[in-house]
Amino acid sequence: MKIGVFDSGAGGLSVVKSLLTDNLFEEVIYYGDTARVPYGPKDKNTIIRYSLEALEFFNNFDIDLLITACNTVSAYALPEMNAQSKYPVLGVIEPGVLALENKSLKKDDNVLIIATRATITSKRYEDALEKLGHTNITSLQTGLFVPLVEEGIFDGEILNATMNHYFSDIVEPKAIILGCTHFPLIGESLQRYFVNKPILIHSGEAIVEYLEARYELKSKDKEAQLKIFASDNVAGLRKIADRWL
Ligand code: DGL
Repeated sequence: MKIGVFDSGAGGLSVVKSLLTDNLFEEVIYYGDTARVPYGPKDKNTIIRYSLEALEFFNNFDIDLLITACNTVSAYALPEMNAQSKYPVLGVIEPGVLALENKSLKKDDNVLIIATRATITSKRYEDALEKLGHTNITSLQTGLFVPLVEEGIFDGEILNATMNHYFSDIVEPKAIILGCTHFPLIGESLQRYFVNKPILIHSGEAIVEYLEARYELKSKDKEAQLKIFASDNVAGLRKIADRWL
């Protein structure tokens, strides 16, 4: 199977990392729209338009499946993308919610969702959790973490100040949904920040679990071939890939 992974920029490499670790595919084609990142502060129509344009890029390859690693794209553009593509387009929100359900939390345990402005505004995670009976959900837009991670800041003073800015008034969470591609990279710092080491839901791990269950995929012996493309600054993206992967 040959799959495509689409993200607004470099962040989706955190999802690629999980896909490569589990070795479910022969070939992974990654496309980051680095010319137009971030998508998180943009409006729904712009996010849909950019996502449909990304489909045109994947027309150059004969892929079997496309994963939108980007939570912001997953929140808004899946119906439109699926309507226009020959292969299935999967997002990361449903897999993330299912991964949380597999953690056997109590319905009144505090679940914190952190994501971009667009993802939080869409209420996609919140609605799905409420449907499953969760009664204690806190949703926070934490877009400042995105440029910090892009700068390679995964811990330290600036990140701590940003966590204080966002979290000083919230109740200690039992679980955190990392509703943005970049946040797994600050996962350890987030767990250290809170007293009771919250459970983290990571889009990459969640989509791997989802693919294994839904498509009955098994790990292969041979390492997948990864090809990386970007709409701008390919060298920069490759550098991040070297560091993250
Ligand atoms: N990839 C985006 C997401 O997961 C974060 C970066 C952006 O705002 O484009 O929501």
